[in-house]
Amino acid sequence: MQTIKHTLIGPIRQAITMAGLPLKGALKDEQLDIISEAGILIKNDKIHQVGNYWDLYPEAQSIGAEMVNLKGDFVALPGLIDCHTHICFAGSRAQDYAMRNAGKSYLEIAKAGGGIWDTVTQTRKAKQEKLVQLTVQRANRHLKDGITTIEVKSGYGLSVAEELKMFRAIQEANESTYADLIPTCLAAHIPPKDFQGAQRDYLKSISDEVFPVLKAEGLANRIDAFIEDTAFTPEDIHSYFQKAKEMGFDITVHSDQFHTGGSQVAINFGAISADHLEASTDKEIQLLANSDTIAVALPGASMGLGVAYTPARKLLDAGASLAIASDWNPGSAPMGDLLMQAAVLGTFEKLSNAEVLAGITTRAAAALNLHDRGQLNPGMLADIVLFPTADYREITYQQGKLKPSMAFKNGVKV
Ligand code: NIG
Ligand code: FE
Repeated sequence: MQTIKHTLIGPIRQAITMAGLPLKGALKDEQLDIISEAGILIKNDKIHQVGNYWDLYPEAQSIGAEMVNLKGDFVALPGLIDCHTHICFAGSRAQDYAMRNAGKSYLEIAKAGGGIWDTVTQTRKAKQEKLVQLTVQRANRHLKDGITTIEVKSGYGLSVAEELKMFRAIQEANESTYADLIPTCLAAHIPPKDFQGAQRDYLKSISDEVFPVLKAEGLANRIDAFIEDTAFTPEDIHSYFQKAKEMGFDITVHSDQFHTGGSQVAINFGAISADHLEASTDKEIQLLANSDTIAVALPGASMGLGVAYTPARKLLDAGASLAIASDWNPGSAPMGDLLMQAAVLGTFEKLSNAEVLAGITTRAAAALNLHDRGQLNPGMLADIVLFPTADYREITYQQGKLKPSMAFKNGVKV
């Protein structure tokens, strides 16, 4: 018989529940549900009740709850969610970064041995245990920043065996960190240089030989593709995505990073999310706003490459849903600081606190098709982050420098 464990956390000056917000469109701070002098009562791994601390206290005492007594000022948010990363990789691309900043082109960098293929080479060389160790290290760094759910893409293996090695590494890493790692297949990242045959044959080898293993072993239920001139065209990807849909995978797309085209594919395939969108024009913005596909801004990639931000304001005003993720990867987004990047995107794109915070909590959960997290609501996973401040607006105001003092994952203090 499972023993029941209750925990009461509080008093919390402000609990920002992120509950009751529309999934799509612009948000005002006044729409936030803020409970002052809050308590959060946890039952095992779930949130049992959220309310006034002093109202919850007697019940918590009578059921023998563990009391996490907070002294001082704290703001609670749902555990943060990074819905787009590539943290399973080996090696560094510091040379690419320096070359890019010296004005070298994508092609010049690739010719000097840089680019995504360099990371593929380094990642293939690394043993699975090494990838596990690197992924856990990065996940734990995120966890310290209050990020309790982290999407992790494959895509640096680019062969049947090497992609599966990445998935097994991500699965093992997931068992060695308190954060939840949500794996995504990005075998369609770039066409592998060493594949003997046409791009479509490569994609077919992945859909024939990797997809069934992902299903059978529960290694991933999301399929991603990079649609871009230097990667895959919408035509290349058509039957690949069709197969993925038939097999019941969720679709997500690296879209409109440098050229448009990807977001249209995302919408056609009913993708859960279309990510990047730095190059999206009013046409793509309108398409996304009229769809159920969530737009994901990746400000870390704009900072890493020195390019414009995703038009987040326009997307929200048009009525799209907007999540914000770090894109943490060795090439375009080496920083991996989700909160800092989301806050800075807010200043450049004129986003409300509610829009920034929804982008890294409830809307990020939706971008992963996860409905058990992203809000401080009864029945949700007890993923909670506590910031040492009395005013939630300090979190974006301090642009990522205000670090959480405590976080809970599945009801466990981490
Ligand atoms: O999301 N755009 C394509 N893929 C990654 C970059 C990966 C890399 O450069 O290693 C991105 O930015
Ligand atoms: Fe990415």
